[in-house]
Amino acid sequence: MSPPDEQEFRRTVGLMPSGVTVVAAFGPEGPAGATASAVCSLSLRPMMMLVCLDRDSRTLGAVQQAERFSINVLCEDQRREAELFASKVGQEEKWGAVTWHGEPEVPLIEGCPATVVCERVDMIPAGDHVIVTGEVLEVDYDSGGAEPLVYHGGLFRTLDPAPGDG
Ligand SMILES: Cc1cc2nc3c(=O)[nH]c(=O)nc-3n(C[C@H](O)[C@H](O)[C@H](O)COP(=O)(O)O)c2cc1C
Repeated sequence: MSPPDEQEFRRTVGLMPSGVTVVAAFGPEGPAGATASAVCSLSLRPMMMLVCLDRDSRTLGAVQQAERFSINVLCEDQRREAELFASKVGQEEKWGAVTWHGEPEVPLIEGCPATVVCERVDMIPAGDHVIVTGEVLEVDYDSGGAEPLVYHGGLFRTLDPAPGDG
């Protein structure tokens, strides 16, 4: 069996559709955040979440320093935010372009269909990423029906109803 090259690996895992979030924490210079899709729920008792952050992510540094981090789930109207937080512009520019609150504990982006606040538990090195686990302190959600933003095949997408679903 020959291992895939990086492009094949990227293409393959890119076919797994994922939700899109912004993971955020307060660093020494203020809020820091990165678009992240490697995010999932981990445990119910206790309630825990898991986030994977690139070693080069500036947000990882903030998550390392802060006790708390937030997971801000993006909806289809927040594609601009997804692109902005995936970029390497300064954190001031990122946070200046969105409405947020939560000072001094944890930055939370307004208008998200769901947010989760976690207390950091473990940071586990894994390849070129770090697996961050956190115990859930608080959740907030709006069941008002905002459609999620989805990432698939290297593109941001929205969900279409399945054929026959109204
Ligand atoms: C759809 C999408 C999903 C991403 N998921 C992750 C992820 O799960 N973990 C990660 O570290 N970077 C992820 N990235 C890349 C980061 O958003 C990107 O490296 C960003 O510039 C990091 O910002 P920072 O250096 O300010 O933390 C993703 C990018 C996109 C477009």
